[in-house]
Amino acid sequence: MVVTVTMNPAIDKTVFVDSFEYGGLNRIKSSESDVGGKGINVSKTIKSLGGKSVATGFIAGEAGNRIEKCLNEAGIETDFVKVEGETRTNTKIVDGKGELTELNEQGPCISSKKLSELLEIIRKYAKEDTLFVLAGSVPGGVPKDIYAKIIKEAHEKGAIVLMDADGDLFKEGLKEKPDIIKPNRAELESFLGIDHKADDEVLYSEGKKLLDQGIKKVVISMGKDGAMFLSENESYICPGLKVEANSAVGAGDAMVAALAYSFENGFNKEDTARLCMATSAGAVMTIGTKPPERSIVFELMEKVNIKKL
Ligand SMILES: Nc1ncnc2c1ncn2[C@@H]1O[C@H](COP(=O)(O)OP(=O)(O)OP(=O)(O)O)[C@@H](O)[C@H]1O
Ligand SMILES: [Mg+2]
Repeated sequence: MVVTVTMNPAIDKTVFVDSFEYGGLNRIKSSESDVGGKGINVSKTIKSLGGKSVATGFIAGEAGNRIEKCLNEAGIETDFVKVEGETRTNTKIVDGKGELTELNEQGPCISSKKLSELLEIIRKYAKEDTLFVLAGSVPGGVPKDIYAKIIKEAHEKGAIVLMDADGDLFKEGLKEKPDIIKPNRAELESFLGIDHKADDEVLYSEGKKLLDQGIKKVVISMGKDGAMFLSENESYICPGLKVEANSAVGAGDAMVAALAYSFENGFNKEDTARLCMATSAGAVMTIGTKPPERSIVFELMEKVNIKKL
């Protein structure tokens, strides 16, 4: 089974204005809001692909209840820890020129008691056939080595971990050797201390070093340029699919969902790469973080170009 962990979920609210005037009155033309946060996006995309997952993490207040209700109505099982306060709402203001201004709330701070409750839920699911997806940032009160701690415990019970994190969370998590990681190019460059756009050869050799350290699969996503899929005996590179782009937000989460779905369904490495490319490109075609439809993903899969490395 797949269990997604979202410690810092959010309601993503996008408001559209003609022009955004700082210090002025801005009239909203239309607005949209959706439940989000990385792991939750992954659960929604797995569902769209036809798979199942359980979503866990922290939720709070009215916004938190809305997240739980939305997921349950979509047929996604949830097992959240409820905390004091209010889950954050992240507002994105998009003007007529497509310029984006973001206003992100902080969200609730997590007590050690609530963190222990979440760890207890994670322990409950940690079994040999479980794949945990640890995705995104963590809220205040949660230490930066939390993913490392979860990976260690999951491994002791024979579970598999896919980690999609950034900065210190990523760095600390790597110490416990998650089974699968999906950094994007910028995240990997920042981890390596590279301050310019690294060549594909550099990304490849650095990815290989991570494999040598004991990570079983390293997927490096490179936005519209595509992605590299590295594993011990079989590595691939795929150029990005040419699609009509609406919003690249959440493309990486869609790729993580495809990795989890492929694992759960026993896909071989080549088909996994194809599904990842198709699902992420499909996500780029939809507005906001809306998952792509399964039929579109399977059509796109036929178009994926794949080259052995
Ligand atoms: N403009 C695009 N056209 C086609 N495919 C794209 C485009 N942008 C992203 N993708 C696909 O999505 C994958 C993931 O994108 P990206 O590397 O931007 O992830 P990310 O930065 O982790 O995104 P996220 O915002 O979800 O965290 C890419 O490897 C590619 O397959
Ligand atoms: Mg990402």
